Amino acid sequence: MSFSWSRRFAAWDRSPVVGTTLVGITLFAAGAVTYWAGGTRSAFPHLFYIPVLIGSYYFGPAGGVAVGLTAGAICGPYMPLDTAAGIPQPATGWFIRMVFFCGVGLCAGALILSLRRRIEDLRRHNEEVVRAFVRALDAKDRYTSRHSEKVAEYAEGIARQMNLPPEVQERVRWAALLHDVGKLAVPSAILNKPGRLEPSEWAIIKQHPVESERIFSGVAHFRPLLPAIRHHHERMDGRGYPDGLKGDQVPLEARILAVADSFDAMTSARAYREPMSEEAALKELEKGAGTQFDPVVVAAMIRWRRSVAHLPAAGENPASEGSA
Ligand SMILES: [Fe+2]
Repeated sequence: MSFSWSRRFAAWDRSPVVGTTLVGITLFAAGAVTYWAGGTRSAFPHLFYIPVLIGSYYFGPAGGVAVGLTAGAICGPYMPLDTAAGIPQPATGWFIRMVFFCGVGLCAGALILSLRRRIEDLRRHNEEVVRAFVRALDAKDRYTSRHSEKVAEYAEGIARQMNLPPEVQERVRWAALLHDVGKLAVPSAILNKPGRLEPSEWAIIKQHPVESERIFSGVAHFRPLLPAIRHHHERMDGRGYPDGLKGDQVPLEARILAVADSFDAMTSARAYREPMSEEAALKELEKGAGTQFDPVVVAAMIRWRRSVAHLPAAGENPASEGSA
């Protein structure tokens, strides 16, 4: 997970179109420069290693070998040893060069493939560790089993429904996974208290977004998540916490988290009440649109849940379904 230039680079560094274009341009350039520089007697045939490495990077070992064969052919029988004198190169010259191009393409492609597999393993490992960590947190509060993972699923669904860029969707998902980690600083007796909380206990609970932010502020990788984490209990009317931000002052990712968080809270059992149905929870979100929640985010949540959970559309009477 990264959120800056490396993310933008990642968007096109796997594109076959970009890879094929770069290989084509550099093959043409290497061939033209080698020919005009005097032929294969010059040092310029080494330029062909550039498209070979690009081919390996984009298409792995097979791509490296394919570009190596193409480079060997371009710099092969029709490329003179000496352009000005019109001296052809011997067959052994271009054949050995082609073998080198293919060998370098094969080795570089294999190394890049292995590196990518390692990176994917690390990414998966990273996510599994974070999930284990948040499960441990959720286990602290017996009424919020899998809360963080469910909020992450809902928040990502809303972000996708809103057509937000993939990097924002991923940021929302990670922020949702980690948003309540600050509850580690809240005593279990307060978290699990079945009755009404005293004002002093509420004051402690209200500090958990700040604690979550403080815990992750030392992790450079998670810094872009901090605004969403800190402000996930803000409200559109400014009556939320910890900073009482209002309207657009609340970061978009935090507004998404607020809706996802409340939806899971309403549809999960508590000591003092049964879980609400999804449809009832969506109606509650609708009631809070504009005051507690961002109406655009609520609308996206409703559209998404109705599409994935096959809930009835607005105005539709579920009781009439299937009746004669
Ligand atoms: Fe929270």
